[in-house]
Amino acid sequence: MSRCLVTRVLPGPAVARIGAAGHELDVWPGALPPDADELREAIASADGLLCLLTDRVDTALLDAAPRLRVVSNYAVGTDNVDLDACRARGIPVGRTPDVLTAATADLTFALLLAVARGIVPASAAVRDGEWRTWEPARWLGAEVAGRTLLIVGGGRIGTAVGRRARGFDMEVLLAGRTDDLGTLLERADFVSLHCPLTPATRHLIDASSLARMRAGAFLINTARGPLVDQTALARALRDGAIAGAALDVTDPEPLPADDPLLKAPNLLVVPHIGSATHVARERMAEMAVDNLLAGLDGRPLPHPA
Ligand code: DGY
Repeated sequence: MSRCLVTRVLPGPAVARIGAAGHELDVWPGALPPDADELREAIASADGLLCLLTDRVDTALLDAAPRLRVVSNYAVGTDNVDLDACRARGIPVGRTPDVLTAATADLTFALLLAVARGIVPASAAVRDGEWRTWEPARWLGAEVAGRTLLIVGGGRIGTAVGRRARGFDMEVLLAGRTDDLGTLLERADFVSLHCPLTPATRHLIDASSLARMRAGAFLINTARGPLVDQTALARALRDGAIAGAALDVTDPEPLPADDPLLKAPNLLVVPHIGSATHVARERMAEMAVDNLLAGLDGRPLPHPA
């Protein structure tokens, strides 16, 4: 029998399969993730780890887990896991691709439309009793039809966002790893980030790339917070260098309530909910458990990182 640590209560029935397969199950009960010390203590006797993007799986954690045979990340991104350190120890790492693509692409497009049309402040004005009459020149936003969307990162989610954009009569440009991002930014009315977080993509959108964007352009980030230099973004929004931004992800998460970014105009922030549909989160749990059980059995992981 192996012992498995699952670092949060997951939706759906998948986690029960771990016990049904004869393994001992230890589910972190907190509403908040374990901190680094708590995680090190909890993992000491674990053979398998099913973790979240809020858990840092680094050398210090792996050193505290002498029995660990598999890391199953409940996310498609793996930037919270030191893949090299796992590889060096022969510990396979799994992730949950595909099943969250539609949910994340939908959220991206919802954010794009919401920030372009000012839906959140307009709704707040209604609730606050500020809606006095139909107004010809108030609550005016940007149209998306005929405008250009630049997708940075042409993987599954970027491709799915492109399909949605074409359905809204947008022109779609793609920036891959080898393209000149600055030139493409100059042509875009909307820029949506869909690349993984790596040392090469950290602060991909910095002051100089924001300066290349059009004054009427909007930035959407549903990938990872550190892709954007948030100090530069706050300044660009304050100065009107770009028209607005919508973020599902920030650095850190959550943002402290007094973070200057939250004071920036035309900014919409939601709490990392790209994959937050019942269907996607339950399918992610099934995949994560498949990866975990395969690793414990010594089989190749069905969805390796
Ligand atoms: C992921 O899977 O990487 C998302 O950010 C959360 O579902």
